Parts: sequence; structure tokens; C-alpha cells
Amino acid sequence: MEFNESEFLIETEVPEHELIISRTDLSGNITYANETFCEISGYHESEFIGKPHSIVRHPDMPSGAFKDLWSTIQAGKQWIGIIKNMRKDKGFYWVEAIVSGVYKNGKLVEYKSLRTPISCETKLKYQRLYDKMRAESSEKIRKVIYE
Ligand SMILES: Cc1cc2nc3c(=O)[nH]c(=O)nc-3n(C[C@H](O)[C@H](O)[C@H](O)COP(=O)(O)O)c2cc1C
Repeated sequence: MEFNESEFLIETEVPEHELIISRTDLSGNITYANETFCEISGYHESEFIGKPHSIVRHPDMPSGAFKDLWSTIQAGKQWIGIIKNMRKDKGFYWVEAIVSGVYKNGKLVEYKSLRTPISCETKLKYQRLYDKMRAESSEKIRKVIYE
């Protein structure tokens, strides 16, 4: 992927009192996106529905984080983690995500995710951790400088 550096570095702050909500089918294709998710990501709801959730995957995210996410939710447990997502315009936003199953009559039918903002310190901590994880698994890394 080629990026215009300046676009790529623009952060969107997730507002304090907003919840970013999405649901997926059991393969990770988006079935529901709330207005805040659409707004923060810069997509229209119709562009999200039916698409894999990796549509918002940021290249700074190590694949190990998502392996952990999927093995946790497929084991019927709740995954809580820090995610850097990419907007349609290549900007980014950080969230804490809680991902878990949606059950109907005791049967797993979908997955859901609720996301809330995190502090600047947490973003820095995870940027470093994810850079390290990507380096250790020989994935591409990119330097990000915070002022
Ligand atoms: C309910 C739910 C929410 C998810 N939310 C995100 C998300 O916000 N950002 C993201 O990159 N991946 C998210 N994922 C994980 C994606 O399905 C996918 O595993 C990840 O983007 C890595 O994509 P890839 O394996 O195709 O590279 C979510 C998965 C589920 C089930």
C-alpha cells in the first residue's frame, strides 16, 4: 500500500462519551455499524455492511493481536485489547475494544465490539509494543514520532 505521509499521520480523537459499536457474522464480516463508528472511521454505513472488519485494519497492528482476539472469542471468552484503526482517509484512531459473542437462545450467532477512547500514555505504550511485536515477527515496521 502506498500512503501520502501527511494524511497517514492525522489522528482522530475518539470523543469521551461516545461508544463505537459494530457487530460481525461468525467470519468477521460487518453486519452492523453505529453512527459513531461510521463517523470516526470516515465510512458510510453502506460501505461497511458485508465487508470484513479488517477494512479498518491499520498496518501498524501486529497480526498476533488479531490471532489472540480470534482464539479468545472462538473459545467463547471476551477479548479486551487496544486497537489502532485506520480511517478511510488513511488517518488513524486508537481505542480500547471489548469483543465478545452475541447469543440467541444460547446459540452463538454473531460477534460484537464496543470501543472507547484511551489515554495518550496508553497509545504511546501500545505503539511501542506493537512496533516491537511487528519487528519480532518480521512484519513491516514504521517509525511514528509524537511531539
Ligand atoms: C466483532 C469484531 C470486531 C473487530 N474489530 C476490529 C477492529 O476494530 N479493527 C481491526 O483491525 N480488526 C478488528 N477485528 C478483527 C478482524 O476481523 C481481523 O481479524 C483483523 O482486522 C486482521 O485482519 P486480517 O487477518 O485480514 O489481516 C474485529 C473482529 C471482530 C469479530
